[in-house]
Amino acid sequence: MHIEVISSVNEARADRFTHRTAIVIDVLRATSTMITALQAGAVSIYPVETVLEARTLQRQGYMLAGERFCRKIPGFELGNSPNDFTPEVVQGRRIVLTTTNGTRAVHKAMRADFVLSAALLNATACAKAAIELRRDVVLLCAGCHDDFALEDGLCAGLIIDRLKALSSSSVGIDDFGTAMLGLYHSSKECVAERLTASSSGKRLIKMGFGRDIESCAQLDTSGIVPKLQGDMIIVG
Ligand code: MLT
Repeated sequence: MHIEVISSVNEARADRFTHRTAIVIDVLRATSTMITALQAGAVSIYPVETVLEARTLQRQGYMLAGERFCRKIPGFELGNSPNDFTPEVVQGRRIVLTTTNGTRAVHKAMRADFVLSAALLNATACAKAAIELRRDVVLLCAGCHDDFALEDGLCAGLIIDRLKALSSSSVGIDDFGTAMLGLYHSSKECVAERLTASSSGKRLIKMGFGRDIESCAQLDTSGIVPKLQGDMIIVG
């Protein structure tokens, strides 16, 4: 198995996904939110790129969720805080999600044979699922506004660590992936601190979303692996 890591959405050329399994990572917060929503019983998540697109789906019974500048979009039922996606709120619901980077990253990866969503919450489950899909793997760090985000790289390193440990075939890793594996190894005792000190973490704390960082910093608390089927994300 060969593993590549793409540092941000900006670097994500479509041809890098062909014949691969793509793993999209947006730890703070879009993919953590997807995992939490499906874990809480949401039926599916429809990732869309624009607010307008999301609004046109409201009449079809979708629950609208998402953020711009980290805040809930006016008229939407939910923002992008994983803590808001409780069973009471989302069980049995179909959700439309639009976020600044995470849902855009899912769209960029659509050329892949399979598209999974990962965060710290489901890293090991996601690595296992990727191995079962028997393709080379490309990890797409969503990043923030076309720049690399440390928390996504750390999560990529963790998934590579798990892929190496669990794969029965030999694993080759590109140079950026090797660097992210090193980042994970040097950070594994202080994951929450790394998230808090990252640019995205600081921004979320400033905006009053510090609790979300605690939730997103949990390692392997979920066996849910969101998987794209057509244009919907469902439990894989
Ligand atoms: C995004 O997709 O840009 C992020 O998840 C932003 C956020 O934390 O809400």
